[in-house]
Amino acid sequence: MSSKKLTTIWKAEPHTIAKIDLLSAYLKAWFSILGTKPPRRNAELLYVDGFAGPGEYTNHPTGSPIVALEAATSALNTHGARWKAGDIYCAFVELDPARTENLERKLSTVESHARVHASTYAATFVDGLIAIKAARPRSFSQAYPLFVFIDPFGATGAPFTAVAEILSSPSSEVLINLDADGIARIFRAGDDANRDILLTKVFGDTSWQESLSFNADFVVQCRQALELYKRRLRTLPGIRYVFAFEMRGIKDSINYFLVFASGHPLGLEKMKEAMKSIDQSGAYTFCDANVRQSLLFRFDDPEEFARQLFERHKGKRVPHDELHDYALNDTPFANPKRMLKWIEENDLIESVELLPGKTRRRGTFSEDAVRAIIFRQGVIHAQG
Ligand SMILES: C[S@@+](CC[C@H](N)C(=O)[O-])C[C@H]1O[C@@H](n2cnc3c(N)ncnc32)[C@H](O)[C@@H]1O
Repeated sequence: MSSKKLTTIWKAEPHTIAKIDLLSAYLKAWFSILGTKPPRRNAELLYVDGFAGPGEYTNHPTGSPIVALEAATSALNTHGARWKAGDIYCAFVELDPARTENLERKLSTVESHARVHASTYAATFVDGLIAIKAARPRSFSQAYPLFVFIDPFGATGAPFTAVAEILSSPSSEVLINLDADGIARIFRAGDDANRDILLTKVFGDTSWQESLSFNADFVVQCRQALELYKRRLRTLPGIRYVFAFEMRGIKDSINYFLVFASGHPLGLEKMKEAMKSIDQSGAYTFCDANVRQSLLFRFDDPEEFARQLFERHKGKRVPHDELHDYALNDTPFANPKRMLKWIEENDLIESVELLPGKTRRRGTFSEDAVRAIIFRQGVIHAQG
């Protein structure tokens, strides 16, 4: 979407509202968990919205900054004396002066907790980040929880170097709105779009030159851009959990992905729970963006993902931890249990290695009891 056509406040599409609902659900969990069990007592929590917008839409009362303040306040009010972290700092970066002004007006109407501190930065994401880092340096270097929402218009504006810097902090996470469509358009436009400079900035190196195929279909190029972006995130030290999903309108297909990256499994587990909690019966839906043919997220039906898990691991002994990470990174599920149950029901497990002194019932795969699974070398006969 181009910002040029939009005025200070604009009408939100259904997927925009879904994105805000998802952020709200996730931040409620993030503030609550890190507020009551911070990595270090009194560590402050920092939330950064790098492309904050005006704080409202013509058809929707709350933009991302407002739901963040509400989630922070609600977490502090709910937990009261159980709160162990320091104060919550929310930093909102917005380049457009009229939108920043609108946002400040909107923020002043929110009744936030005294321990929630909001500041706005009328700047680019990159300059805003420099200023925020100068103000709260520990959030960028120590185990002080940091969550950054990166939601630009279009493909540029959030250089990979900035994302890498955020993720170099030990307790940081990002949620990025990746405009794969915009990336593929720049790629196809070549020199006219200043391609080499822009794409090298988006990906942080020139790997896009080998990873995007010039003769492929547009949709395939979008997928290639997404896959490369995920690979680039996984090259960052400590970033073991990277997950992307597509937000798709019912009527039209948009190549619009939200990409989550973290060094900790709990973050991704909570992001998946947040997705599950969002009503998808409206005009949009979340799709898995890990496979070539997007599958609708069916939290109620593990079969398709169980088949993929089996294909990947057949004939091998796989530790439970590895299966857990696979489930988090490559399926909509927060753990492998239901997929393993399906695999066992279809007689594709050779044996289950238990931890000393533990037993298990058939069909159950608790991490407290199971050390590893040995998969058969077989072929799946079950009908889907
Ligand atoms: C997609 S909108 C943000 C929507 C908002 N996050 C929400 O969910 O309500 C992108 C915003 O980024 C602003 N923007 C554009 N370029 C920017 C830049 N380089 N740095 C910071 N903000 C920018 C635009 O003015 C616009 O308000």
